[in-house]
Amino acid sequence: MAVLEIKKIPEKVLRSRAEEIKSINGEIASLAQDMLETMYDAPGIGLAAPQVGKPIRLIVFDIWHPEDEPNPHVLINPVITAKEGLDVMEEGCLSVPGVRAEVKRSYRVEVKGYDLNEKEVVLEAEGLLARVLQHEIDHLDGVLFIDRLSRVKRELIKKRLRRMR
Ligand code: NI
Repeated sequence: MAVLEIKKIPEKVLRSRAEEIKSINGEIASLAQDMLETMYDAPGIGLAAPQVGKPIRLIVFDIWHPEDEPNPHVLINPVITAKEGLDVMEEGCLSVPGVRAEVKRSYRVEVKGYDLNEKEVVLEAEGLLARVLQHEIDHLDGVLFIDRLSRVKRELIKKRLRRMR
């Protein structure tokens, strides 16, 4: 296991559409383990493969609290199959350091994907978990949370990011 380097904007891999995973093999399993370790180390509650430089459709997440036992999840080729409601919550991203902003997303989602045993998984999530899933699946399409802000807010953040760089 290893803690991987987290790619930050403006790295190109964060802006590309990630490829479907065709074969869930040992390489994928070990990458998923490394991604979980990287996520807990950061610390964060979700991580998508493009964030560690791998443009493939793999996400890990755990909406943990420091006092909880870890409850790691791995999802391969995840797809949002239903969404409902609206919710606004503040978000940040390990690939966009120093920025937090309120993002409008669906309150409830159904997500289908596969686990490391090639078993189909259907997740029904709401609230924070639904948000994490939408945020991480966005990463697989090269979309960052700052893209989901109003134009005015996005411009302000872009200016701030340019100054930080
Ligand atoms: Ni993110």
